Amino acid sequence: NANSENETFVGSLDQGTTSTRFLIFSKDGHPIASHQMEFKQHYPKPGWHEHDPEEIVSSAIECIDKAVEEFESKGYARKSVVTIGITNQRETTVVWDRQTGSPLYNAIAWPDTRTNSLVRELRKRPESEKLREICGLPLSTYPSSVKLIWLLENVDKVKSAYEEGRLAFGTIDTWLLYRLNGGTGKSVFVTDATNASRTMFVDLQSLQYSEQSLEFFGIDKNKCALPKIVPSSDPEAFGTLSDSALKGVRITGCLGDQSAALVGQCAFEPGMAKNTYGTGCFLLYNVGEKPVLSKHGLLATVAYHFAGDRSPVYALEGSIAVAGSGVKFLVNNLGIGEKSEKISELAGTVENNGGCVFVTAFSGLFAPYWIDDAQGTIFGITQHTTKGHIARATIEATCFQTKAILDAMEKDCGHKLHELAVDGGMTNSDLVMQIQADILSISVDRPSMRETTSLGAAIAAGFAVGVWKDFSELKNINREGRHIFKPKISEKESRAMFALWSKAVEMCRGWVD
Ligand code: G3P
Repeated sequence: NANSENETFVGSLDQGTTSTRFLIFSKDGHPIASHQMEFKQHYPKPGWHEHDPEEIVSSAIECIDKAVEEFESKGYARKSVVTIGITNQRETTVVWDRQTGSPLYNAIAWPDTRTNSLVRELRKRPESEKLREICGLPLSTYPSSVKLIWLLENVDKVKSAYEEGRLAFGTIDTWLLYRLNGGTGKSVFVTDATNASRTMFVDLQSLQYSEQSLEFFGIDKNKCALPKIVPSSDPEAFGTLSDSALKGVRITGCLGDQSAALVGQCAFEPGMAKNTYGTGCFLLYNVGEKPVLSKHGLLATVAYHFAGDRSPVYALEGSIAVAGSGVKFLVNNLGIGEKSEKISELAGTVENNGGCVFVTAFSGLFAPYWIDDAQGTIFGITQHTTKGHIARATIEATCFQTKAILDAMEKDCGHKLHELAVDGGMTNSDLVMQIQADILSISVDRPSMRETTSLGAAIAAGFAVGVWKDFSELKNINREGRHIFKPKISEKESRAMFALWSKAVEMCRGWVD
């Protein structure tokens, strides 16, 4: 490519729950080269979900190398990649030894529910209500804090590192930044404000660690090093790649994947929202420069914080634990359909769910319900039920929870969304998007380039080094070829479907001791 010498490109590493990918974007937001790979999910016991931290790092490097190979094979020069952004699955917790840089246990992934009984005990303490006001999150198995407590209480190596002051705690952003910068005692040890806001250790107003919260969880900062909290887009904070085909390139953006998707959808104005259908599904609604505490089961969280004179921006979030993972469950565990894409085809073989409702509560139910003693349950099975109905009910479970979240958001904000911007793997299916529009009774707006999470991390990185200087420069990015799905069933039909779902949710309570 003769022009590539003068062009500027931005790399973006997206470390998600089931796969890692690296994309290289042009300044106008087009992905030029990419590489993606799945990595191993460990489920050692029912409810447990772990990742190997070393595999997370090696998959990141492999993705960078392979994407650069493709980039060069298309005639571009690797030196035209001027900066890199990182985005990641949030809450997943890694502990390592500060002296050796080695992990002390597998990463405990965000959907893991081993902390169920611990959470129940913590909830009994009167200070627990106050915590939600400080950090915006309800006590549940979801945030990092309870995962760290479990590690401290149950893993000898972690306990002794803590007692000897050698323990480092981090979410995936911190772990990746630490290792990609060389991974020794002097390596970069930071977390961005969006990731930090998912730990429960952070005061949402000051964006600093909350003494009250650390005391509640019994964490001594002198024994367990906590990463420094920095903005999500910053020219200095994140260091430089010490290895891979892009060795020496600066990292200037870092944010949790759901925040990145919000940025990638250019939802910079209060009142704008997006819903990302990945392993889980997460609806973020931009509430502006002051956090809004939910009264209806949503989370208050940091949307993004670009450095300089820009204030942090907050979001209300509805988190759904199971979306793509429900589809994968049908394929991998039940052998229904040979790959994920086939599930939507199967769902298309039936007109409707035939009375079948699948509450995919594999990690309990998250927002807005927070029922941690629920487990996955299928209702309404008859001799009429086929694989198609089960496939449809699995897809609908995510769509119904999205509806419950939008209802809660409307109550919290007093504002009704008239259209929902979407992205993520499941949005590739027209049928899924039509079902979503039908269940919400509003339009669903899908971009043609659906790597919005990666784009958001690239935008955060590019902003820090002046690739883009003002949000207005992004107004045309990813706008062309959007598809609007309009509801095709009546609101009455939609209400009846949702009523059946709500009944099923109530019937799921109290399954786990
Ligand atoms: O909070 C968990 C979330 O960040 C995971 O995202 O896309 O891997 O489902 P995803």
